[in-house]
Amino acid sequence: MSVDVQHGQQGINGIWSSRWIFILAATGSAVGLGNLWKFPYVAGEHGGGAFVLVYVVCIALIGIPILLAEVMLGRRGRMSPINSMLYLAKESNVSRWWSCIGYTGVLAGLLTLSFYSVVAGWSLHYVVLSLTNKLYQISATDSKLVFNALLKDPWQLIFWHTVFMLLTISVVGAGVIKGLGRAISIMMPLLFILLFVLLGYSTFVGDFEAGWRFLFSFDTSKLTWASILDALGHAFFTLSVGMGVMIAYGAYMPEKKASLGRTVLAVTVLDTLIALMVGLAIFSIVFANPSIKLSSGPGLLFVSLPVAFGNMVMGQLFAVIFFLLVAIAALSSAISLIEPAVAWLVEYKGYKRYRLVFVLGFIIWCIGLGSVFSFNYWSELKLFGKTFFESLSFLTANILLPVGGLLTALFVGWRMDRDSVIDEVGDIQRGPYRWWFRVLRFVSPVLLMIVFLTSLW
Ligand code: PHE
Repeated sequence: MSVDVQHGQQGINGIWSSRWIFILAATGSAVGLGNLWKFPYVAGEHGGGAFVLVYVVCIALIGIPILLAEVMLGRRGRMSPINSMLYLAKESNVSRWWSCIGYTGVLAGLLTLSFYSVVAGWSLHYVVLSLTNKLYQISATDSKLVFNALLKDPWQLIFWHTVFMLLTISVVGAGVIKGLGRAISIMMPLLFILLFVLLGYSTFVGDFEAGWRFLFSFDTSKLTWASILDALGHAFFTLSVGMGVMIAYGAYMPEKKASLGRTVLAVTVLDTLIALMVGLAIFSIVFANPSIKLSSGPGLLFVSLPVAFGNMVMGQLFAVIFFLLVAIAALSSAISLIEPAVAWLVEYKGYKRYRLVFVLGFIIWCIGLGSVFSFNYWSELKLFGKTFFESLSFLTANILLPVGGLLTALFVGWRMDRDSVIDEVGDIQRGPYRWWFRVLRFVSPVLLMIVFLTSLW
């Protein structure tokens, strides 16, 4: 690659209009499908409160340190993850190979979006099903049939995948300020409102006490090594680190003086709070109907919940609200998955953003077809016992993400010019940043290695 990397190319892609927009955009990226179905279910299964505690420790030991490192890399590099890393490697007098953090991130982001969009499409389908009263008083058997029918119908899946990709590219194509920034400032408040309405509803109509007990009762007997590993991996995925997304978003941060530590903490607290609130709402609603069998993974959202809503007062209205919430959360994550690649191509080739986004979107859409078919035509086609969809999700979440995070921790902790680090975050000899830097150097890499090796195992 022959770009002459210069610091100060800042602004080619744009700058957030305020630090708040950065916080909202980063939170929008962090809050996604991971929070909505993975966290509640995994927490409940692995001993509720005990798991939540382990998860919070993991967030503190790898999530926050790497998130802070990524945002710092972006704010200093001021460009797309790839070019920021090229610039920072040069500034620190180390090999250009460190830019592979940017390349693996871009690749992981595009691959993740290809299947994320397919799943996000399901939620759009369920918005329409609830709007048209198709889930009214639905039985458990029928709910399963409805979901299976969707998965077995490639045309429906392709339709919703297309709609979701079109939404994503129309936001990203409009640019950082008019596209991402504007969409975020509409979507995030809407997401908070929907979430509060849903939580209010679940307190009145659902079995809030049972939901609370399931999520927070402290049962250490269910806490195993596997659950600790799950907590580690999830802490990482939920904060959107390891993909360069936060480097890209950090590059659009406006003022230099804002405290990175406080900004990153705000994002983390919001992400965790939202995960817990969603969990409480989901379980209170599901447990309101004792006959419902709790299903895991997508089944929790798309099979169990529709049954619960279908048999509750005003259930259809709140089902619409819930699936809209899922779609919005997914969209605010999806735009962040494609942005690093787009930003890089805009800097590298100087092409018009909307044209690039369209081409890139089309490529991702095509890869997504593989995931669509893995639920029907190709359901028997397996690689190491995994379908195309499962293999992609494994490759990104269990391999590319931890590797990206590990390299980030090693670069900032060991190779990056120390004065630049100090210039960005402040004193790393004293106070909270001292802890941050130590954890980043010694603890996060070890934990990441463990996640990576055990998932390979
Ligand atoms: N954090 C998102 C979620 O919880 C997923 C994501 C990962 C988004 C990495 C962007 C980058 O669903």
